[in-house]
Amino acid sequence: MDTTPHGTQVDVGIVGGGPAGLMTALLLRRRGISAAVVEARSEETIAHTQRAGILEAPTVQMLLDADIGSRVLTEGHEHTGTVLSFEGDQRRIDFQELVGRSVWLYPQNEVFRDLAAAWQREEGIIHWSVENTAVEGLDSDRPQIGFTDADGVSRTIEARVIVGADGSRSMCRKLIPEGVRTDHFTSYPFAWFGILCEAPPTAPELIYANSEVGFALISQRSDTVQRMYFQCDPDTDPESWSDDEIFDHIQRVLGGEEVVELRRGRITERTVLPFRSYVCDPLTYGRLVLAGDAGHTVPPTGAKGLNLAFSDVRALVPRLEELLGDPAARPDDDGLFDPLRRYSATALDRVWKAQNFSYWATNLLHRRPDEDSFAHLRRRGEFQAITRSAYGRGYFADSYTGWAD
Ligand code: PHB
Repeated sequence: MDTTPHGTQVDVGIVGGGPAGLMTALLLRRRGISAAVVEARSEETIAHTQRAGILEAPTVQMLLDADIGSRVLTEGHEHTGTVLSFEGDQRRIDFQELVGRSVWLYPQNEVFRDLAAAWQREEGIIHWSVENTAVEGLDSDRPQIGFTDADGVSRTIEARVIVGADGSRSMCRKLIPEGVRTDHFTSYPFAWFGILCEAPPTAPELIYANSEVGFALISQRSDTVQRMYFQCDPDTDPESWSDDEIFDHIQRVLGGEEVVELRRGRITERTVLPFRSYVCDPLTYGRLVLAGDAGHTVPPTGAKGLNLAFSDVRALVPRLEELLGDPAARPDDDGLFDPLRRYSATALDRVWKAQNFSYWATNLLHRRPDEDSFAHLRRRGEFQAITRSAYGRGYFADSYTGWAD
């Protein structure tokens, strides 16, 4: 192994090459600010990892404004509404009629491919499959990211600010001292069993369905491949269900075949996704700032994860430019730089709205393992109050499609 230090100097060092890290790198470059990215996973792994597939309009707009040749408009699909279903009682939420906005179905791994292709086309510095990543010198003027690259070479990236965009198991987050950082956390007594299957779409829009046996979501990928989920115990072994058991169960959640006939096909992927809600406050310390899942995690019910990552980046990039433009900037008594503290406050306002929506929609649509008849019928009452009132539907539509900044 080559142990000579190989150093690079940039304005901003970014830990994490997922959508949050890459979008930050690209938007900084548009402002003439240099960035370098390190990522522990391989490009292939990220490109093939299934994540949620719904983009809010401001997220789509960012992809277009970044001028990276994103395929979102040609390969994504605009959805002007979605269906909520309770024991087969289907109610459509018409986003356009209610709030004049749509969402786009364009899977996160496609967003990643667009961003990674653009960054590499523009010859941005990125190291995939790195190991031993360590951030040091956060209280100096030139913090560093040390790592071992895919060829076993020890390298450092020296920067003026470090962005921690290293996902929900973030190591950067832990660099915010415990006396400064508050971790807000809640867990749920269920998980999602996700499948990919070779079938045509069951319905033109997504169906979020609930029943006496719990939740299911019918999403889409293409004319021939579909994505579906159903509520399960977090300890479920994905191999313990046969294909037929899975489809029979999802059909039961949707209601009878007269309500909607589930289109079935060979299951090509199955995974259990844990559920958690987490917020780190503040999202910064010294010359470190967090963006995306590193700073907050939401359960997938509201499809907010990637959208929040992008709204973080929208708020962060101008504040990074402000900080970098002031060489005399000094941290306050808590060790925070003012522009980054303001970023944290702006981002967390939106994060908490999204936390509320994701938590609320999760509890509305999932059955708790210990749910009694009162709890079930109360949820049914809540479902009706929301879906049979233009105000209730308006709340859902406004939150789901993404609030104006
Ligand atoms: C997905 O298509 O994977 C998806 C869509 C909506 C969600 C979650 C996941 O809320």
